[in-house]
Amino acid sequence: MRVAVPTEIKPAERRVGLVPAGVTQLVRHGHEVLVESGAGTGSGFDDDAYAAAGAEVVDRETVWARAELLVKVKEPVAEEYGFLRPDLTLFAYLHLAADRPLTEALVAAGTTAVAFETVRSGRILPLLQPMSEIAGRLAAQSAAHHMQTNAGGPGLLMGGVPGVAAAKVVVVGGGTVGTQAALMASGLMADVTVLDANGARIRELNDLLGHRARVLMSDEHVLEEELAGADVVIGAVLIPGAAAPKLVRREHLAVLHDHALLVDVAIDQGGCFETSHPTTYDDPTFEVDGITHYCVANMPGVVPRTASRALANATTPYLVRLADGVEQALAADPGFAAGLNVAGGTIRHPGVAQAFPDLPAQPA
Ligand SMILES: NC(=O)c1ccc[n+]([C@@H]2O[C@H](COP(=O)([O-])OP(=O)(O)OC[C@H]3O[C@@H](n4cnc5c(N)ncnc54)[C@H](O)[C@@H]3O)[C@@H](O)[C@H]2O)c1
Repeated sequence: MRVAVPTEIKPAERRVGLVPAGVTQLVRHGHEVLVESGAGTGSGFDDDAYAAAGAEVVDRETVWARAELLVKVKEPVAEEYGFLRPDLTLFAYLHLAADRPLTEALVAAGTTAVAFETVRSGRILPLLQPMSEIAGRLAAQSAAHHMQTNAGGPGLLMGGVPGVAAAKVVVVGGGTVGTQAALMASGLMADVTVLDANGARIRELNDLLGHRARVLMSDEHVLEEELAGADVVIGAVLIPGAAAPKLVRREHLAVLHDHALLVDVAIDQGGCFETSHPTTYDDPTFEVDGITHYCVANMPGVVPRTASRALANATTPYLVRLADGVEQALAADPGFAAGLNVAGGTIRHPGVAQAFPDLPAQPA
């Protein structure tokens, strides 16, 4: 199989879909690897490192044109849609339920699209997990930064100081992002509350976070009570493959402090605040009804040296299996098959099919 790795072109995205150690593994399995020149530079891997591992370093057109299996980090952007074709398998974060244009482009092109974020291993989403860990930790760091006046914030220190109260951080959704955000915020000595809607998860969080955070079962009333006291709200809910539920609605903005900061990490699945829209690091925040929203859709993109390695640790074993044979790899593992989002001109993932009922679908 010919495996290809393009350079990411989303704003402020410097991660890469494969590190040189992954090239070595693929070559050992008898595969050919093409890497776009400069693809790894932002993550600390130059062209020579890829060439030394056995990859052929080529230009952008060649990488897409000769790819049989293309691994990248973020979903293709509009200027890449023209490269999609029926004999291509794409392996990347796709978040299709929140992206109609890309879903249409993949269906029209007949591309086989396997999404990192819907691959399962039991209850875990193993290819989302490493980026969620990073985004969760960054959510607390970014909130701390954006509460400072030099970042346009209200001038609050996360941990307060002796005699002055710490900032109240409310994390909605206590999965991977939420847990890491809570741990990081509590490490900064904030006053942290985590809300989740799953009883089993609530018990796990209670054990895991101990005295570091309050853990509460989320319902409309609890959510509203917690929002009323919050300085920072971190949105981290997920219903795998589906668009995020809009838990914080526009009318809730009126109950928040006017200096509150909303960080919607779930923005890549459409956001869990009704008033969110995706932003980039070039202009990360905006205001609605006077409330600041931070909605960067590719948060880990700014820590590429950490993130590319963490991503590759998780994705490379799956990539090698796909390269050995796409159909066999998916047939052998129902959790891996849950990653199949589009194939043969139809939507194959139930969550994506539900988001776009008018597009051709054959959900597994
Ligand atoms: N913006 C970014 O750069 C970035 C990076 C990584 C992940 N993400 C996104 O962050 C989100 C969370 O990812 P994750 O890995 O933590 O998912 P996860 O599945 O580990 O956790 C989601 C949690 O939400 C909870 N939940 C579901 N419905 C809820 C509700 N109504 N109320 C309260 N809690 C509810 C679930 O019980 C679960 O614990 C996803 O949308 C993911 O795509 C964004």
